[in-house]
Formats: sequence, structure tokens, C-alpha cells
Amino acid sequence: MVIRFALAKGRVAKKAIELLIALGYIFEEYSEKSRKLIFTDTTGTIEFFLVKSPDVPTYVEKGAADIGIVGKDVLLEHPAQVYELLNLNIGRCKMCVAGFEDRPLPYGKKMVVGTKYPTIAKNYFNAKNQLVDIIKINGSVELAPLIGLSDCIVDIVESGNTLKENGLVVLEEICDISSRMIVNQVSLKTKRELIDPIIRTFETQL
Ligand code: PRP
Repeated sequence: MVIRFALAKGRVAKKAIELLIALGYIFEEYSEKSRKLIFTDTTGTIEFFLVKSPDVPTYVEKGAADIGIVGKDVLLEHPAQVYELLNLNIGRCKMCVAGFEDRPLPYGKKMVVGTKYPTIAKNYFNAKNQLVDIIKINGSVELAPLIGLSDCIVDIVESGNTLKENGLVVLEEICDISSRMIVNQVSLKTKRELIDPIIRTFETQL
């Protein structure tokens, strides 16, 4: 029996793979440049594949992967029927509202928000009873207020460099974000004897 991991491509996968290697698993065919999509460790017990982050909860919910490693931002934006078992504390950043330092947000009027995270943004401003017009943007979100598309953005801030280089600042912090280990609900029962030690090993490394 093999345990399949779905990893969110990019920064999170890089750190998750480092963690798997640190745990002693060897992936001979893996290199960052490889275009291969599935990698198996030398003992044949662990297999991982790289997918776009919003697809990780989908693969795990449907059972195509037993375990997923993905940011909390994705889990908040795309809720799925999975068990969230571990906070891996990697890929740490904050979900923030950002805009111009000298331009207060138009609270009480309609506020235009540019974001990759429409659900998170909507929930946040709804809870404040603030009327918002959410514009879904798929990348380079910082551009939106710069060119007058939105009053502010809701986005993740890690080093803060992207905001700084574009003359923007954090106006409000929404929540802390980090990578989580999620597990398929059926796999946790049927593959428990394989999954439990993996979870325990990850826990001891944290
Ligand atoms: C993310 C995020 C910010 C940036 C924050 O974008 O959307 O733009 O990283 O990181 P920083 O605080 O360290 O500068 P990503 O790099 O994923 O690219 P994207 O703009 O194409 O979504």
C-alpha cells in the first residue's frame, strides 16, 4: 500500500519536500527542474504529486490523494470535507487588507476590494457589515489599487516586500496563515496503520 501526497506547487511544496527528505524519504527522480508530476520514494511507501494549490483540497476530499499539504489560505477559500490534522508551521504569512497609508478605507460607503481570495474577503467585510464590491484577480494583486481598480486588496503578506516596492502598506490583519496537513476521511480509517506513523514523524519534526 502506498500513501499519496498532494502538494501545493511552489513555495509550500518546496518546503514540504524538504521535510519529507529530512524524515528520511529518498526521491531519486525528484529535482526542482523536473517536469515529472508524480514521484515515488525508494521504499515505495510514499508518492507525491504537485498540483495547483486550490486543487489540493479537491484531490484529498475525493480520495485521489490520502494526504495534502496546503496553506490555510486555500482551505479558508475552498472549504473541503477533509480532516485538518497538523499545523506544519511552514509557509507562514498573514492574510491582510492592504492599501495606501495616507488614504483611509471608505468605510460606510461601498468599498472596492481586489483579491485572489473572494470568499475570505467577503466573509471578513460581511462580519464588519461593510458593503463591498469584490473583484477577483488571479495574480499581481498589488496592481489593483495602483491603477485605480480597487480601494484596497486582500492578500497574503510574507516578507512585505511586494507591498513595500509598490508603495502599499498593511491596513488590517485578517488572520495568520501557515501550511496544514489534511487527510482524506476514509484513508484515515482504512490506511490508519500507515498514516499514523507519518503524522507522528511529522509532529516530531515540528
Ligand atoms: C504572493 C502574494 C503577494 C506576495 C507576498 O504572490 O499574492 O503578491 O506573494 O509576498 P511578500 O510579502 O513576501 O512580498 P505570489 O508570489 O504567489 O505571486 P502572484 O502575484 O502571481 O500571485
